[in-house]
Amino acid sequence: MTAAAKLSSAPLADSAAPASATTGAPLPSIASERVLVLDFGSQYAQLIARRVRENNVYCEIVRHDISPEQIRRHAPRGLILSGGPKSVYEPGAPKCDPAIFSLGIPVLGICYGMQLACDTLGGKVDSAPAREYGRARCWVTSAQGLLAGVPEHFDVWMSHGDQVTRVSDEFVPLARTGTCPIAAVKHNALPVYGVQFHPEVTHTPLGSHMLHNFLTAICGCSGTWKLGDFARETIDRLKDKIGSDRVICGLSGGVDSAVTAALLYRAIGPQLSCILVDNGLLRKDEQAAVLAEFTGHFKTDLHVVQGEARFLDALAGIVEPQEKRRRIGHAFIECFKEEAVKIKGAKYLAQGTLYPDVIESGAAVDGPAATIKLHHNVGGLPAELGFDLVEPLRDLFKDEVRRLGLELGLPEDLVWRHPFPGPGLAVRCLGEVTKTRLNVLREADAIMIEEIKAAGLYRQTSQAFAVLLPVQSVGVMGDARTYENVCALRCVNTDDFMTADWTHLPYEVLATISTRIINEVKGVNRVCYDISSKPPATIEWE
Ligand code: XMP
Repeated sequence: MTAAAKLSSAPLADSAAPASATTGAPLPSIASERVLVLDFGSQYAQLIARRVRENNVYCEIVRHDISPEQIRRHAPRGLILSGGPKSVYEPGAPKCDPAIFSLGIPVLGICYGMQLACDTLGGKVDSAPAREYGRARCWVTSAQGLLAGVPEHFDVWMSHGDQVTRVSDEFVPLARTGTCPIAAVKHNALPVYGVQFHPEVTHTPLGSHMLHNFLTAICGCSGTWKLGDFARETIDRLKDKIGSDRVICGLSGGVDSAVTAALLYRAIGPQLSCILVDNGLLRKDEQAAVLAEFTGHFKTDLHVVQGEARFLDALAGIVEPQEKRRRIGHAFIECFKEEAVKIKGAKYLAQGTLYPDVIESGAAVDGPAATIKLHHNVGGLPAELGFDLVEPLRDLFKDEVRRLGLELGLPEDLVWRHPFPGPGLAVRCLGEVTKTRLNVLREADAIMIEEIKAAGLYRQTSQAFAVLLPVQSVGVMGDARTYENVCALRCVNTDDFMTADWTHLPYEVLATISTRIINEVKGVNRVCYDISSKPPATIEWE
């Protein structure tokens, strides 16, 4: 199974649980219209699924080697073959059963998926003369099917080393780029399409139009699936899975754990116990705010662990980011374990892990995803704690979780709160993490957020925070020389937190934040604004 990416059932499945598609377990009944994404190890498989969901079509990700029989049992309206890191001609490259092309179900191959379809059905795939990464101009040679309604040329996002160089007469090429002779293709007799570029990423501006063409005109979907169905389905499945057992849910103060808790609360009410670990790495006044929200919305068991001393001890003298994360993860497990054993009869542990956490931790099963950062809320915990894992949001992106939170009646303030990483301020306090440095950072951060809110920009920005650098610089305050810390401001806009642009905050707002921080926060005499995008930078500094 890939990252258990099924919208109806897998969010409730253990991360290690096999897909119903591969086990023959009963299939979910909700969606009459569904599309399957066959995952060949793409970083973007979930993004494809999400784009399908945006068209109100139920979508699930299945293994690339799913049998035609299993596919039939899903009764999908369409199949999408994802990209992947291999070459189709490489030994051991993932293949699908060739019979899936003759099921009469429309197929769209993306990148590797297109190469595989063409290779299987009569085409030649070769290594491209030059690897092509990034934006390319695409010219339409036949504006039909997928490309119906697109202009003569348009921009696409390419990311490939191989390409289809020749196709048999069974195929009609639909588009080309300067270096890729067959950038889109259609089979003559079978409902099989392929695109070399990535229609699922926002850098292909007409990508959603093409996917819409595929889903509606080619697959015949009418688009009746809703996120509300996901909430109802998830709650029902949580009820079925959990029965009369007890679930422990870690609360962080963020929207992810709140939505996880809300789903569980709706499903099992008083069988839910929540644990909030105050790791001493929370933002200013955060613990009090979380407690107020919690008691306002949930009438269930809450445990607060005061863990500051333990975390700060574990972090003493540590400057290396991954080591910080490891130690925080370890301390978190210890605190959690100690509290969890006090909760009798708990069988499950619920976590608000989202898809970007999974993919960036390299935790997506079968995926090629490289580990970018060790996210302490992915992997490790269940085995350590001896609980079964429940991750109802594992397949969703942040904006989908927010919409789900609103569906579940959570307050707007909480739903729109900027995300905050599990390792907290430790990954924003570069260099050694001490109580004094954390307090400096906390004050600076609070000022930044206050001013962004005052300017009415909080909801328009995806994430804003201050970072304390392990750098001191010379300044002059009054008539005296200072030698104090540098504080960086980070503010980004993003849809899915996998790519992000730095926010063009108005100069006046930046000026106010800077002046206030330098005047009000003892220990900071210089403020910088981070103008790097993700990639190549990440959102957090560590
Ligand atoms: P990066 O820095 O990887 O961040 O571009 C992407 C998003 O993930 C958040 N983040 C984390 N969230 N545990 C979390 O729960 C973590 O270890 C972690 N690291 C980063 C980050 O704040 C941003 O929203």
